[in-house]
Amino acid sequence: MHSSIDGTVSPYRAVISGHGSFVPEKTLTNADLAKMVDTSDEWIKVRTGIEKRHITTDSETTALLATEAAKIALKKAELAAEDVELIIIGTITPEMVFPSTASFVQRALNAKKAWVFDLAAACSGFVYGVSIAQQFIENGRIKNALVIGAETLSKITDWTDRTSCILFGDGAGAVVLERSEDKNRKGIVYSMMASDGDYWEALCCKAYGSLNPAKKPLSDPSQTCMQIKGREVYQQAVRRIVEAVNHCLKHCNLSTDDISMLISHQMNARIIESATKRLNLPKEKVFLNIAEYGNTSAASVPIAFDDCARQGRVKRGDIIIFVAFGAGLTWGANVIQL
Ligand code: UT7
Repeated sequence: MHSSIDGTVSPYRAVISGHGSFVPEKTLTNADLAKMVDTSDEWIKVRTGIEKRHITTDSETTALLATEAAKIALKKAELAAEDVELIIIGTITPEMVFPSTASFVQRALNAKKAWVFDLAAACSGFVYGVSIAQQFIENGRIKNALVIGAETLSKITDWTDRTSCILFGDGAGAVVLERSEDKNRKGIVYSMMASDGDYWEALCCKAYGSLNPAKKPLSDPSQTCMQIKGREVYQQAVRRIVEAVNHCLKHCNLSTDDISMLISHQMNARIIESATKRLNLPKEKVFLNIAEYGNTSAASVPIAFDDCARQGRVKRGDIIIFVAFGAGLTWGANVIQL
């Protein structure tokens, strides 16, 4: 038995043993978008930090991206797919209404031993998923889990709406979490999650569900795509990211000096900069890769973590924080000692 930073006692820790990401080859630059809607490379770069995004072709699906990211993470973890016990996929652009995208990924990986499901918490889906897997590993029910964030947002993007189409991209990221009894590896130290349904309309896609079933024609066809109230989301995002990180630091009795890297959901470089300024986190401790991918919703944190780790900017023993915010509204964070 050993205590974690947050004071809970469990014989098992959930550690990250592998990570991977996969994005479609095709890209769409700001210059490409300026040919489609009334915008410019400069406006997009200054207001969001985005330079391009990766976009799926018609035949590339969410399960395909998720499977490729998962294969890389499993290889890195040296864990055979047939030994995976749980697969959670954070996504709001699933393969189809049902079965879950996770069912398709399980099949593609031949991960027969796993129980699997999707988690619809929008941009917070991956962070929520890590927290859920953490609980099952810590309480001894499972030895490992594959947690994936995967999105094909381009398929629900209104390519005539300049306020939203510049923001989003497609991709997938994955981590393998495994049970550890090594006292020197704390792994997931603490997770917090929160939601506020009052703001559901700030960021939504109204079609395909029971309110507007596919059979019933929509009065406004743009409702089959994502709709955002950018300013409202912006303000909430800064506020909730600051709250989530401060809550984690306080709960774990840590200061920003103890944190090696903040891996934030990449929704807008200005949102991340504004939040991290309020948190007094120096720039070198805040990972940014939005220029390359845009906002990939649930895929964003695991893609950023994979990039960050592959660039050698974090090492074993470092304390890092994953933080995400998105539709719902939902937000959450994981404190992790690598
Ligand atoms: O992961 C969570 C999901 N993320 C989000 O929902 C995004 C959160 N919000 C944002 O990132 C920002 O609010 C945006 C990038 C969407 C917009 O940036 P902003 O600084 O909040 O701009 P704004 O909405 O206040 O618009 C400023 C101006 C407006 O023109 P007027 O009214 O001042 O004449 C817009 O019509 O910029 C105009 N505008 C554009 N101009 C060129 C809006 N979109 C564009 C565009 N190109 N793509």
